[in-house]
Amino acid sequence: MSRQFALYGCGKAGLSVALALKAAGWKVFGCDSRTEKSRELGSQWLACPAINIPADLPPGIPIMVGVPEGALAEADYRIADNDRHIAGRIVFHLSGALPSRTLNLCRLSGAKVGSLHPLMILPDPLTGARNLKTATFAIEGREEAVSLLKKMAAAVSGKMFILSVRGKTLYHIAAVTASNHLISLLAESENLLMRTGVPEEESLKAFQSLVEATVKNFFSEGPVQALTGPIERGEVQMIGSHLHALAKTPASRDLYKAVARKTLVLARKKHPERAEIYDELEKVLE
Ligand SMILES: NC(=O)c1ccc[n+]([C@@H]2O[C@H](COP(=O)([O-])OP(=O)(O)OC[C@H]3O[C@@H](n4cnc5c(N)ncnc54)[C@H](OP(=O)(O)O)[C@@H]3O)[C@@H](O)[C@H]2O)c1
Repeated sequence: MSRQFALYGCGKAGLSVALALKAAGWKVFGCDSRTEKSRELGSQWLACPAINIPADLPPGIPIMVGVPEGALAEADYRIADNDRHIAGRIVFHLSGALPSRTLNLCRLSGAKVGSLHPLMILPDPLTGARNLKTATFAIEGREEAVSLLKKMAAAVSGKMFILSVRGKTLYHIAAVTASNHLISLLAESENLLMRTGVPEEESLKAFQSLVEATVKNFFSEGPVQALTGPIERGEVQMIGSHLHALAKTPASRDLYKAVARKTLVLARKKHPERAEIYDELEKVLE
């Protein structure tokens, strides 16, 4: 039964992870989804039988649940209520936001539950499977599930870490900050540049090399050493003039101040000897 699993929920994430595992030598026992159409599509993508989960599953085949967060309770109920071999079966989902115990009915019926979250964007099965080769997986759950999920992550990319149940929400906030909020900050930067009269198509390109070099520097030097700019230099007047320029756009001003206060924390670590000037800056940013 080892290196086998079944997929319930043939969407972008489920198919991407299943395809990546298949490419790494794992067998997909069968797949199922809410709709017949997705079930058949999944069966074609994965070259596996379209089956009825859990009714068609023998004991011991793990179930990967690839449904969205809002459908996990329904999937949990369906599996727990219909699986004659639920005791001891490993059932895991792919959500980064919710802990494995969301599969509570399966857990109470004796399943070993887990979660396997790829820190990666999976826009479609092929791109997703390709992206997963470099992805880190966050793993959480019961010991038996964690042991299997570690083998899966090792087969796909070799990169993983184990999370505690309590750490799951903070982990998800970290991922949202690194990915979605970064997009929002870049969009804010683009909007500000457009307000100067630079055309939209130009403003998109303008910051590309700056952003790429900054991100590269962050990963090679770490946040403290990578920090440069007016806050790091302690330019109190300049920050005051930035806030003045944003006076008519309170949302942009508030965002600037909130992020700048975080920047100041890093600046203090980089230059403890500049405490006095940084205290002045802090007052400007209050
Ligand atoms: N996509 C990503 O980039 C990504 C990355 C990491 C983790 N994830 C996680 O993966 C999970 C799935 O996300 P996704 O992007 O793959 O979503 P998705 O593309 O919308 O696919 C979800 C699948 O779940 C099925 N489904 C929806 N509601 C259902 C229900 N009530 N009962 C049974 N099946 C249902 C759908 O099946 P039918 O088509 O048959 O209706 C659909 O194929 C989420 O927890 C998400 O956070 C996603």
